[in-house]
Amino acid sequence: MIKNQWYAILTSKEVKNTKPIAVKRMNLDLVLFRDKRGRLSCLMDMCSHRGAQISKGKVLDSSHIQCPFHGLEFDKDGKCKFIPALGKNNQGDLSRFNIKSYEVREKNGIIYIWYGEKEKIKGEPPFFDENIDEDFVYSEFKDTWNTHYSRSIENQLDVVHLPFVHHNTIGRGNKTLVNGPKIIIEKPDYIMTSANNEKDFGQIPKSPEECEIRSTYLKFKFPNIWMNRVSEKIAIIIFFAPIDDEKNVLYIRFYNKITSYKIINRIIAFFGIFANLIIERQDKRVVITQKPKRSSLKMKENLIPGDRPIIEYRKIRDELIKENEES
Ligand code: FES
Ligand SMILES: [Fe+2]
Repeated sequence: MIKNQWYAILTSKEVKNTKPIAVKRMNLDLVLFRDKRGRLSCLMDMCSHRGAQISKGKVLDSSHIQCPFHGLEFDKDGKCKFIPALGKNNQGDLSRFNIKSYEVREKNGIIYIWYGEKEKIKGEPPFFDENIDEDFVYSEFKDTWNTHYSRSIENQLDVVHLPFVHHNTIGRGNKTLVNGPKIIIEKPDYIMTSANNEKDFGQIPKSPEECEIRSTYLKFKFPNIWMNRVSEKIAIIIFFAPIDDEKNVLYIRFYNKITSYKIINRIIAFFGIFANLIIERQDKRVVITQKPKRSSLKMKENLIPGDRPIIEYRKIRDELIKENEES
């Protein structure tokens, strides 16, 4: 993981009002919950008393979450507010029972966690506001891949795999020769590229300089969100929520504003997601077999020019990890 980043980890609708949920993200056992007004909190899911999972407890009217074992209460910042066994007039200083809390934000139906030091919080959680306006509607699904999230991201920047993994879907046409690809980098925020593959008639592949970013392009924003901008009216957005070093969950959204009627666009989104499901399963089948599960800048792979978007991803990720000291 890269420290001091806003990671997209869940969708807003997964955390229901007053029903705590336990999730493992970034190698951490977390509990997320909302109070009656819908305000979201995220704490370490381990009670400071005797280690029970707080997520098995409940959210009280006071907005505190109560451990199910001996009733210790914590506020949204993880501060211990009440220990029933001590008696209500004998609470004293409870600060040694405080538990770690995490800063969370929600936008566009995505929950982000600040993974790092709170004093270093900067910037806004990443999204594609420049492309996705409020006319868009989307449908989504999620799927867990047994690999490190870096491999899942690299797969979405891989223009070389299209005619093989997706030979009967988005990679139809036997376009095995890889031109470029052209890449635009805005450090440290995003990498943009687009596939420019052709049938191989014996021609020499074009250099990145001879290629351009096409109207269908890919954009990845650090640390873990990606978009395939298919056209002005269609986009696919995926965020790759790390569970641990060997697992991540892909949240896949199909966005469109094809007609001027949202209701029709919702129907299109409903069916559109099935095509994405087929493509996602094609990728998953192969990507989960890659070894090692976690990619890194200096590893034993023999790369080719078409892999450049992946190399650039690894370089920036490596820089960000070093800048923020790897955890
Ligand atoms: S373990 Fe949570 S109150 Fe005792
Ligand atoms: Fe793919």
